This record gives sequence, C-alpha cells and structure tokens, in this order.
Amino acid sequence: MSDLGARGRAILAVESSCDETAMAVVTEERVVLSSVVSSQIDLHARYGGVVPELAGRAHVERVVPVLHEALEGAGLSHRGLPLHDGAPELVAVAATCGPGLVGSLLVGVSFAKSLALSFGLPYVGVNHLEGHLYASLLEDPNLALPALVCLVSGGHTLLVAMQAPGIYRILGGTVDDAAGEAFDKVARFLGLGYPGGPEIERSASAGDPRAIAFPRPMLDDGLTLSFSGLKTAVVHHVRHHPEIATPDVAASFQQAVVDVLVHKSLAAAAACGARSLCLAGGVAANTPLREQMAAAAAARGLGCFVPSRAMCTDNAAMIAAAAHIRLASDGPSPLSQGAEPNLAFPEERLAG
Ligand code: KG4
Ligand code: ZN
Repeated sequence: MSDLGARGRAILAVESSCDETAMAVVTEERVVLSSVVSSQIDLHARYGGVVPELAGRAHVERVVPVLHEALEGAGLSHRGLPLHDGAPELVAVAATCGPGLVGSLLVGVSFAKSLALSFGLPYVGVNHLEGHLYASLLEDPNLALPALVCLVSGGHTLLVAMQAPGIYRILGGTVDDAAGEAFDKVARFLGLGYPGGPEIERSASAGDPRAIAFPRPMLDDGLTLSFSGLKTAVVHHVRHHPEIATPDVAASFQQAVVDVLVHKSLAAAAACGARSLCLAGGVAANTPLREQMAAAAAARGLGCFVPSRAMCTDNAAMIAAAAHIRLASDGPSPLSQGAEPNLAFPEERLAG
C-alpha cells in the first residue's frame, strides 16, 4: 500500500446552493475530517427570507476563508497537499450543482472547478438532495439497510427507499408546498421571523399542540403529501379567531406536520420493507419531529436514525459523501457541466 493510500483518499466539497457557504473534507470511508459552515442567516433575517442577490455576493466574499479553514482542519495546505503524515490525499473537488438559487450555485460550482483545475484533480457535480440522503450514513455507518429516508427540506419533501449507498427509489412526496416551505410561510404569516422552522418551534414550545385541530392533509392517500391546505387552514383560523394565542397556533400547526410526516414515513417504510427509518433535511432539526419519529419507529420495531442538527441543515460533508458515491459509479463530471437551479432528483437510481 502506498503512503498516500495509508492516509486515506478524500474529497473536498463545496456547498453554496442557498444561504450557507460550506466546505468539507471527507474520506472514502465517510470520515469527516473537516466541515465548515458559514451561515448567512443574519444577513437575510431583516428581509424575512433569502435575498438571492445578497446570497450570491456573500458566497463570493466567504469562499476563500471557508476554504482555508476546511483545508487546514483536514491537515491540508492551501494547495490541497498533505501537511503531515496522517493527512489525507485529495482525489477530487466536488460542488452542489443544483437544485438551488442560480447565483449561489454558480459561485460554488465555478470555485470548485477552478480549484479542481489548479489542484490537478477531477471535478464532481452533486445533486444537493442526494447529499441530504447520505447525511445519516455519515453519522451512522452501520445504519441497517434498506432504510426509509424522510427528506424534509425547504424546497422538498420526499420519501426515499435507500437500498444501498447510491441505490434508491422515491416512493412519495409532496404535491405542493415542501414541509420547510410550510413552516417558513406560516411563520411569516404569524410574524415570527426567518427562518420559519426554528421560530415556529420556539413559539410552539410555549403552546398546546392540541389547541386547534388543524387538518392532516391526505393522511390516508397513499404516499402522497400536501401542505398547502394546512397553511391555508392556519391563515383562515387566525383570521376568524384573532384572539388566539400565537404559541397555540404554532404548536398545533407543528403537530399537524409532524403527524403527517410520521404517519407517511411509517407507511413508506412498510411498503419497501425498510429495516430502519431516518430523517434528513433542515426540517429534521425539529425536536418534536425527531422525538415522535424515533418513538413511532421503535413502536414498530424499526431502527431509527436522527442525524445531528448540523448534519440535517445544509452542509458540505453530506455533499462530499454523495460525491464519493458518484465518482465511483459515474466518474468525474465534465468541466462544461453548469449549475442547474431546477435539477431534478432521479426517481430511481439502480447503480451504486
Ligand atoms: O435543508 P435545508 O437547510 O435547506 C434546503 O435545502 O432547503 O432546510 C431549510 C428548511 C427551512 O424551511 C427551515 O425553516 C427548516 O428547514 N427548518 C426547520 C427547523 N430548522 C430548519 N423546520 C422546522 N423546525 C426546525 N427546527
Ligand atoms: Zn438542503
């Protein structure tokens, strides 16, 4: 075995699809050597949501300091070379190429390609959602497969059957708003600020989840989800009952979302014979969802893995993990590959 082989082969990944500038170095064995996230929440909070123009500019300002921190943390020089014996060998540079905000994606993709060229390494474009899918495997390498991943982010809500790393099938998803989008919209309506998920959760902690019986949309409608009607129900209820306490609205809304996600995840797990259930995506940072999903899985005899909050929200370690799988199965991406804001998530991938 060569010296370099003994140090481990690693990928440097860049994530910039929305409002987090993130970079990480992760080995082939999914050991996270460094993971740096520079959040822009403070920058966008006063506007009540992400301002794409500001996000792109902030990524441009932050990529170099974030890169230096990620390389140093992994024992690599600013040229991507090992600084000491235990440091890894970089084998590729990856970036999220979609979906996301085009201006934000372009910064990360262009930066990663330039680094790949200057380091003399291949480039790998990664689907952001595929990254979220592998977050659990980074923290629990012994996750019992097949697993049902309930992927709940700001833009997507998907029920994915993962047979093995790189082999998965979408079983269901939302027909309208994503779960995170519903949290963000309801929070804005209630005047709770941005980002909506954590604000709803904070307000809900002082409220009664049974105060208002909001609908559980499409509960018995197979593996299809819908959150738009629930959001409208909240708006109607508050308009008709202006005296209602906001924490009770937040808690009742949150409980309706959690009930739907837990119910549908269990149904999807049964449909694909999953041995375990995992959460992924920003909404998976929600405490009642984490606790109730784990309890429901345990009651069914299923394993349940809930990633750390840092691994649920956007980060580059999960992008690096997905990049290792893509590099092994598809090889490097062409440098002509662009940023694709509407990049679809394949319904099915049968090859690792
Ligand atoms: O995965 P993510 O960081 O970015 C996307 O890929 O979209 O997810 C962001 C979403 C936002 O809608 C945010 O409100 C939601 O995750 N979120 C939460 C919580 N923390 C973040 N939703 C509910 N409860 C939370 N604690
Ligand atoms: Zn995300």
